[in-house]
Amino acid sequence: MKGLFITFEGTEGCGKSTQIELLGKTLRVLGYRVHMLREPGGTPVGEEIRHTLKHSKANVAMTPETELLLVNASRAQLVRETIRPALAVGDVVLCDRFYDSTTAYQGHGRGLDLSLVKSVIDFAVGDTRPNLTLVLHVPPEISAERLLSRQSILPFIRDRMEEGDRNFFARVAKGYDAIAAAEPGRVHVVDGAGPIDIVCSRIWEQVQPVLPRVGRW
Ligand code: TMP
Repeated sequence: MKGLFITFEGTEGCGKSTQIELLGKTLRVLGYRVHMLREPGGTPVGEEIRHTLKHSKANVAMTPETELLLVNASRAQLVRETIRPALAVGDVVLCDRFYDSTTAYQGHGRGLDLSLVKSVIDFAVGDTRPNLTLVLHVPPEISAERLLSRQSILPFIRDRMEEGDRNFFARVAKGYDAIAAAEPGRVHVVDGAGPIDIVCSRIWEQVQPVLPRVGRW
């Protein structure tokens, strides 16, 4: 794998989308070829799956098992259609969530068996693995506050994934702690609280050391 694959993770409202946008712009100014992707989604097939998971009227009765398979169907498509071709030519891929979200949400959050979750992930991604994963950590109060302010600005659109209760999101947060503890070489926790530019420089500190993997255009 020639390119550089960085994934961003965290609970709702942790600020990752804003930070990916900023990092992507900086890297492009520096001459790197950058793809900014999101999961679930990122391809036409994946965006339809995203709609089914989050906003479709038909998703009310969705089971955790179905959720597990749908997020990984979206992922299998994104890996083959976009991520592998981009990495093969030496590009930088920034992805808003990847398989650690499945371990955290469907495994720790919904309570599905972790070894079964891992098998499904392994089937979806094969050997396409992130070089670096940044988990943006914010306390649950900040996460809830940001979510509320986002919902008050945007016209209200029902999102099934945001309907979990506090205990669900607490389990997801603990799941991320376990993921970071299990793979300290790949997964780094970044403090996501505070002003956007300060969080941005914390992220830059983590990204700079892995940049020599890829060339500039
Ligand atoms: P977001 O794009 O606003 O972060 O929304 C994506 C939602 O989907 C979020 O609630 C986390 C959830 N999700 C999973 O439950 N499992 C997964 O594997 C992925 C990628 C996302």
